[in-house]
Amino acid sequence: MKKSLITILGISFAILTTGCETKEEKKVVTYKYTTAEVYTNMCAKCHGDQAQGNPKKKGPALNDQSVQDLKLGIEDFKNGGNGVNSSGSEHEVMEHNYKSIIKKGMDYDTDAMAQYIYDNFNINKK
Ligand code: HEC
Repeated sequence: MKKSLITILGISFAILTTGCETKEEKKVVTYKYTTAEVYTNMCAKCHGDQAQGNPKKKGPALNDQSVQDLKLGIEDFKNGGNGVNSSGSEHEVMEHNYKSIIKKGMDYDTDAMAQYIYDNFNINKK
């Protein structure tokens, strides 16, 4: 009787701890490069070093967008979804670009990227 109680306790303890372990697997993502490094290396050639846009690469200016707009735009192509702001073939440019960013280990946080562009380049900011 006592023995089986201990076994039951043991099993439930094991279940409890396994439950905890699976939760811990959801690690906080750490990125290899800073947002500034990623922007300079991966975004500036099409959007300009001051986010002023680059007509040659058809990259629109990002220096007049609010943090919220930037977040939506970046999240949209990062998730590969059908964005409200983006259309057809041009959207694919950004999605494709995102895949090559991952390949190069230059993944980044979308919110941090939006904030970085706004803080450093926005022209409407007071
Ligand atoms: C190969 C050129 C290219 C590169 C590199 C590039 N973009 Fe773009 N980006 C574009 C083009 C073209 C558009 C407009 C069409 C579209 O929405 O896909 C665009 C659109 C955007 C938009 C939406 C703008 C709007 O008005 O809705 C954001 C935000 C953006 N890019 C951010 C970035 C960030 C951040 C990076 C770097 C991680 C980056 N882009 C790298 C070409 C590029």
